Amino acid sequence: MINGGKKLCGKIDISGAKNAAVAIIPAAILCEDVCRIENIPKISDSAVMIKILHSLGAGVRVINDNTVEIDSTHMNCHTVTYEMTKHLRASYYYIGALLGRFGKARVAMPGGCNFGGVRPIDQHIKGFKLLGASIFLDEDAIVDASADCLIGSPIYLDTVSVGATINIMLAATRAKGLTIIENAAKEPHIVDLANFLNSMGADIRGAGTDVIKIRGVDRLHGCTYSIIPDQIEAGTYMVAAAAAGGDVLINNVIPKHLESISAKLIECGIEVEEFDDSILVKSFGRPMRCNIKTMPHPGFPTDLQPQMAVLLSIAKGTSIINEGVWDSRFRYVDQLIRMGASIKVDGKIAVIEGVDQLKGAQIKADDLRAGAAMIIAGLVAKGTTEIDNVIYIDRGYEDVVEKLSSVGADIRRVTVSEPSASVSVG
Ligand code: EPZ
Repeated sequence: MINGGKKLCGKIDISGAKNAAVAIIPAAILCEDVCRIENIPKISDSAVMIKILHSLGAGVRVINDNTVEIDSTHMNCHTVTYEMTKHLRASYYYIGALLGRFGKARVAMPGGCNFGGVRPIDQHIKGFKLLGASIFLDEDAIVDASADCLIGSPIYLDTVSVGATINIMLAATRAKGLTIIENAAKEPHIVDLANFLNSMGADIRGAGTDVIKIRGVDRLHGCTYSIIPDQIEAGTYMVAAAAAGGDVLINNVIPKHLESISAKLIECGIEVEEFDDSILVKSFGRPMRCNIKTMPHPGFPTDLQPQMAVLLSIAKGTSIINEGVWDSRFRYVDQLIRMGASIKVDGKIAVIEGVDQLKGAQIKADDLRAGAAMIIAGLVAKGTTEIDNVIYIDRGYEDVVEKLSSVGADIRRVTVSEPSASVSVG
């Protein structure tokens, strides 16, 4: 529940990156040793990835909210059931990790955010096959992968894919010989995964460019590693500050990762000041319009597209958003229209005519980033906004209510026992 219209003022500390954590947690099984991973965001996606480790027989010692020690020395299982994978897309990283560790993996096809279109994994499969693995999809939608010995190979990705780049890196780390991934994704979490694997003794170069070279090694050893700050969480709070107005220091970030979002906010007339590991966002009055095309990194991230749509809903003038990564990622627009936004969607294009103000409404989170956008809409709107399905938001935002309350937002989490029944504060 959000009572909108409050200016935000103060400091928000950014947590570890979700999309790095969900790759690094399974990567820990590539060594027969103990890895200590720090700065894991306390979100449900991390919890599920850790639960899968348990189910595979790895030892997991929780040191505190954000640190675990993973002991995969005595792991013996290579099957991950749909009960485990249905919660999130990234569960498919266990295919690459188990294949790399044991030469076999049985992993149910994943769940995860549904943007309304298909989310194929053909490039993952192509990569595994080029490394010498046999892959079958059985009648229960289980991916069955096996190889006597994975052999390094050149792999050209037909499309820039974060997931395929990560899965191939995981499988190739202990393969024999050299794997070269061409047209690789360059997101910050790809670099973070490579740094983690190299800390365990892997030989990976070029992460962060579109050619990644992985020279397979026989064994990896344990290490201590701290995950980078979350680019998308930081960007979400930057947009929240820009839209709600006020003066917010977004702390513990890598400003370089946020350049595309800073540039767009500046274009909208928002003040953005960069420091070594923080960014100050100041906003007064309505933003100006701008156009956005989402692209793979270093382009404007698709995972900040719904949040920016809220900002542009109250901008002066007409803005155009072109979704360049997913076939369809505008399902949330209906919710914004119910709040008074003026948005027309045609395929991958949304045309947003800025209005003076949004008004509070009963809305729902359609997926993780759409849910974050609904929170921003609630902060901006006049009156009370009730957001349903916040379970999606918990997948990727640590303590979102607490962080926003600490900078002056009037937001609280409530538990509803029955649909439309009495509401109690939880
Ligand atoms: C990752 O998804 C992120 N998830 C997504 O963030 C993010 O939206 C996406 O990258 C793009 O940045 C995680 O990191 C866990 P892709 P992923 O493979 O890896 C096509 C969030 O909110 N494609 O880079 O699934 C695909 O259809 C989530 O945190 C193929 O055609 O994305 C899409 O159009 C949501 N074949 C494009 O590539 C394939 O085999 C990019 O997808 C794989 C992908």
